Amino acid sequence: MSSVPALRTSPESSTPFSRRFGLRLPLVQGPMAGGPTTPALVAAVSNAGGLGFLAGAALAPEKIASEVAAIRALSDKPFGVNLFVLDAANPNEATVRRALEAVDPLAAHFGLPPGAALARYAPDFRAQLDTVIELRVPVVSFTFGLLPAADVVRLHAAGSYVMGTATHVAEGLAWRDAGADAIVAQGAEAGGHRGTFIGEAPHALVGTMALVPQLVDAVGLPVLAAGGIMDGRGIVAALALGAQGVQMGTAFLGCAESAIPADWKARLRASTDTATSVTRAITGRHARGIRNRLMQQLEARHETVAPYPVQNALTQPLRQRAARENDGDYLSLWSGQGAPLSRTRDDGLGAGQIVEALDAEWRAVLCKLSHAS
Ligand SMILES: Cc1cc2nc3c(=O)[nH]c(=O)nc-3n(C[C@H](O)[C@H](O)[C@H](O)COP(=O)(O)O)c2cc1C
Repeated sequence: MSSVPALRTSPESSTPFSRRFGLRLPLVQGPMAGGPTTPALVAAVSNAGGLGFLAGAALAPEKIASEVAAIRALSDKPFGVNLFVLDAANPNEATVRRALEAVDPLAAHFGLPPGAALARYAPDFRAQLDTVIELRVPVVSFTFGLLPAADVVRLHAAGSYVMGTATHVAEGLAWRDAGADAIVAQGAEAGGHRGTFIGEAPHALVGTMALVPQLVDAVGLPVLAAGGIMDGRGIVAALALGAQGVQMGTAFLGCAESAIPADWKARLRASTDTATSVTRAITGRHARGIRNRLMQQLEARHETVAPYPVQNALTQPLRQRAARENDGDYLSLWSGQGAPLSRTRDDGLGAGQIVEALDAEWRAVLCKLSHAS
C-alpha cells in the first residue's frame, strides 16, 4: 500500500505537491467553465496561498491569452489553465434538427428565434493548446480526454506541470502512461461535467472516498482529490486517503469574484444533499447540477439529445439569455453534492477569505486529531 504523505502543519510544507508550488495549503481551486473562474478569482486564490485555476475550455485562444495576462497582472504566484481534450464536431443535419426540436420550444419562452446548425460547436482545441504552450502557464490540466504523449512533452518543454483528470483507475493509468505529472481524481460527488473518457459515464460514478486511494495505489503519481470537499474536514480526509492535495470547485462558486448569476448562487445556498443529479440532457455530456426546469424538460426528451459539444452549443443561447435575466429555471446549475456545506460561510466572501478560512480549518482538524491520538 502507498504511504500517506506526512501531514505537517507548518506553512508551505504540507505535501510534496504544495511544496512544489509554494502553497500555504494543499488546495487547488477547481477550474469552472461558464463564468465562475474569473481572473480576479484565480488571482485571489493564488495570492491567498492556494493554486488558482482558469477554466480555458470555452474561451477562444485570444481570450485565454488576455485572461492569463489579467491573472499575471494581479498575481506573481503560480496558477493553472484547464482545457477540454476535444475533437472538432461535425454532426449531421438530422442530429441537429432532432436536438432543436426539444430546445427551440424552451428558447421560445424567452422570445428567442429557432436555432440552426453552426459552423463550429466549440473552440479549436489544438489552437487553445498551442496558446497555452506559448504562454508557458505553470500548471495545465485536462479533462474529457487523453492528451497524446507528444503534447505532454511539448508542455513539459514549455515548463508546464501537467495534470490529467481521471474518474476511474484505467483513466489514471492512461494519463500516467502519457507522461502526466499528477492526476485529478474526480469523484462522483463533484459538480460540473464528468471527465470520463474510457467506458460509460454512468459506470464511472466512483465516489471520492473509494476513488482516491485506488488511484494513489495504482498510479504512483501525486493525486488531487476532487468531489464533495467543502471544508477543512474534507481536506484532511483527502490527505488521509493518500491525496497530495484537493481540488475544490463548488466551494468557490458563490464567492464574490465568481461571475455566475445571483439566482444560481441563491439556489446553491438553498440546496440540499439530494438536490443534484447527473444528466447529459443539457450539454450532451454527463454533468452534475441542481435539478431545475431546464434539466427536467430536456431529460423528458432524452432521445433528442445530441452529443457534446453539439447539445452544449445548441442550448447555449437559451442559457445565456437566462443568465442575463437571472432566471435559474433555465440555467445549467452545475454544483457538487457538498453545496449545502457552504451555508456555514458568510454570504459573498471573497475567494481569498475562503482560502484563509480553509487554511485555519484544516490546521484545526489536524490539531484535534493529533490531540486525540
Ligand atoms: C460550475 C462548474 C464548472 C466546472 N468546469 C470545469 C472545467 O471547465 N474543467 C474541469 O476540469 N473541471 C470543471 N469542473 C470541476 C471542478 O474543477 C472540480 O473538479 C469540482 O468542482 C470538484 O468537486 P466539487 O464541486 O464537489 O468541489 C467544474 C465544476 C463546476 C461546479
